[in-house]
Amino acid sequence: MSDLKVTPFTDEELKVEIRKLIKEKNAVLLAHFYQEGDIQDLADYVGDSLGLSQQAAKTDADMIVFAGVHFMAETAKIINPSKKVVIPDLAASCSLSESCPTPDFKSFVEAHADHTVVSYINCSAEIKALSDIICTSANAVKVVKSIPEDQPIIFAPDKNLGAYVMKQTGRKMLLWDGACMVHEAFNIDKILKLHEEHPDATFIAHPESEDHILKVAKYVGSTTGMINYVKNDPAQKFIVGTEVGILHQMHKEVPEKILIPAPVNDETCNCSECGFMKMNTLEKLYLCLKNEQPEINVPESIRERAMLPIQRMLDLSK
Ligand code: 13P
Ligand code: SF4
Repeated sequence: MSDLKVTPFTDEELKVEIRKLIKEKNAVLLAHFYQEGDIQDLADYVGDSLGLSQQAAKTDADMIVFAGVHFMAETAKIINPSKKVVIPDLAASCSLSESCPTPDFKSFVEAHADHTVVSYINCSAEIKALSDIICTSANAVKVVKSIPEDQPIIFAPDKNLGAYVMKQTGRKMLLWDGACMVHEAFNIDKILKLHEEHPDATFIAHPESEDHILKVAKYVGSTTGMINYVKNDPAQKFIVGTEVGILHQMHKEVPEKILIPAPVNDETCNCSECGFMKMNTLEKLYLCLKNEQPEINVPESIRERAMLPIQRMLDLSK
């Protein structure tokens, strides 16, 4: 999704300008593993949603530049409201976050008032404000296990992660009907065929995928979990079932290993790329640092309520 350039700089010049501005403005650049490789390489910290939240909490920079999607930058602002938080493209949304409109979710929660509400971090500040505890893919099982066994639970907005957590914990939960369009695009027949062609490859997956995909994976975990698995497992070849941007960091960690992106349903598109994540470009990153916008702001009444469930998650994940 690269737009027409509006600055005179080449990519190499943009990289130099970005690092210069980060220093001049005492900013910190946080990037998710699904960002394009050049952005990951420029970042002060690259991580999964949990790691990025922890970094946002502890930074002493004046400005957080968030190379990720909107809910991630918004979470950083909720956690650390005295910092200016900017994002290269304000339109960088998330299909999970979009699948959970506030009025509908509010009615759902009110209709099940005795339930504890566990929300995946991939949701808006308003949804977080309606939740009791937040989780990420790295700690969802731990978060659910922390809730007393007789307590009924709503899990939102990812029904696939929710189903995976139900399997892992043996807890029945009421699931919101949301999904990640990238992780739902993986094709089981093609994955099995690829595995037949590469019998020595280990298939690993992210829990945002559907059960029939997760069932055939040897390892299921967050993006950081997947990178650590590839690093520590003796296998030399992996079929990687998550957004392709992760391969950049994996290749850096294990240059000697063979990494094959898992195939998707549609041959005409690269569906394992998250179009939202890829809205951020080097040029937009440069402009957002220079102009200190688009800026993320959250009304204080929502921020305060959204912080409580995030803080519970952060305390549990120390
Ligand atoms: P994690 O990096 O926390 O595993 O999340 C994956 C994802 O889809 C982020 O939007
Ligand atoms: Fe949302 Fe899926 Fe993109 Fe992550 S990969 S930002 S969950 S749409």
